[in-house]
Amino acid sequence: MKAKTKLAVFASGTGSNFVAIQAAIEQGELDAEVVLVVSDQANALVLDKAKAFGVETFVFDPKAFTNKAAFESKIVEALHIKAVEGIILAGYMRLIGPTLLHAFEGRIINIHPSLLPSFKGLDAIGQAFEAGVKITGVTIHYVDAGMDTGRIIAQACVAIDDADTRAMLQTNIQQVEHKLYPETIQTLITKGDFS
Ligand code: GAR
Repeated sequence: MKAKTKLAVFASGTGSNFVAIQAAIEQGELDAEVVLVVSDQANALVLDKAKAFGVETFVFDPKAFTNKAAFESKIVEALHIKAVEGIILAGYMRLIGPTLLHAFEGRIINIHPSLLPSFKGLDAIGQAFEAGVKITGVTIHYVDAGMDTGRIIAQACVAIDDADTRAMLQTNIQQVEHKLYPETIQTLITKGDFS
């Protein structure tokens, strides 16, 4: 039997997608193991969640390095030590540079809270809400050097009702994310994308 696929989750914030991934693993729906949580924010809530699940963390302060290549080299080192096969970006609010892209070519994916190519970048939920669109959603895509520009893997729609608040929209989007991300990761593992 093939060993479980070793994943690293990169996150800068709350970590609800990390928890959804862990839950899917525990329920036997995702044939993977999160061996490292990487964060650029020392106070990120995701770090407490990682500890609660007994997952090792790698935290770095970008300002302590001369440039992106320098901190990404350290990250790559940590990923290799843990024999990571695939990188799952889950609210990691930084562009990935050439150092990480080359080390994990085709093996980095991201989740974004809109139907790309609409509403790229920061606060995609707020952007959709302010634009008054009736349908937005969630996109999972491969990561390239651009901002939310890589090849799309999966998408799901979320309707915006006239009575919805921005907070309600965020809840609805995250509910969809928590189902779509583990399912999509499992599909990629089955296809052999991370090995
Ligand atoms: C998620 O909604 C994710 O789609 C978004 O950050 C949130 C992280 O939530 N990512 C982006 O906006 C990336 N451009 P979480 O920390 O609770 O998983």
